[in-house]
Amino acid sequence: MDRTEAAKRDAARQAFDLVEQDSVLGLGTGSTVEAGLDHLAARIAEGLRVTCIPSSRRTTAAAAERGIGVVDLAEVGQVDLCIDGADQIDRDHRMIKGGGGAHLREKCLARIARQRVYVADRGKLVERLGRTWLPLEILPYGAQFTLQAVARIVGTETRLRRGAYGPLRSDNGNLLADCWIDTLEDPAGLDRTLHAVPGLLETGLFVGFVDRLIVGDPDAAPIR
Ligand code: 5RP
Repeated sequence: MDRTEAAKRDAARQAFDLVEQDSVLGLGTGSTVEAGLDHLAARIAEGLRVTCIPSSRRTTAAAAERGIGVVDLAEVGQVDLCIDGADQIDRDHRMIKGGGGAHLREKCLARIARQRVYVADRGKLVERLGRTWLPLEILPYGAQFTLQAVARIVGTETRLRRGAYGPLRSDNGNLLADCWIDTLEDPAGLDRTLHAVPGLLETGLFVGFVDRLIVGDPDAAPIR
């Protein structure tokens, strides 16, 4: 394991150390969350009782591989803690997420969680959000018109995500798309503007979600 991976694993372990007995835990999606699941499984083996709510089928599968059971969000009355990763984070803890296409459920889960902890390696920290593709989830009905409306707003390119068998769908059955963002002066404002487009279901802009950020530092992490 290289230093960056070791740092990511260490940071994810720190996040999963925050899980309290008999709590409800929201699990984000991605390699960072998965880097901490072995530690969560070890804590469960040692007696931690926790109810896990996944944000995606990918996370459900990763948890199952480690013997961690999950339940549906509909089955709990609250979420105590949510742990997730990010693609970009700026100084004000504004984020771009959704590289893994799970941003709609991730945002739903994070919005209701009492505490939101994000884990990122140093490479995810940016001076200013942008120079990247911003993930979107859009309704299949009229998708081309939704993307045209988005393109008019951002003034740049949009694209549908495609896999080997055609357009990629989210776990919700919707289409995954992205729009190119050069510079982003007002992430919250852009999020609001994009949400006004009918058919646009969610963006990867997360503003005001971070209660705690744990950064993986490759210079500090022990190599295991
Ligand atoms: C998935 C996400 C992920 O949290 C984000 O893409 C980070 O992924 P990784 O931990 O693999 O770098 O938003 O929708």
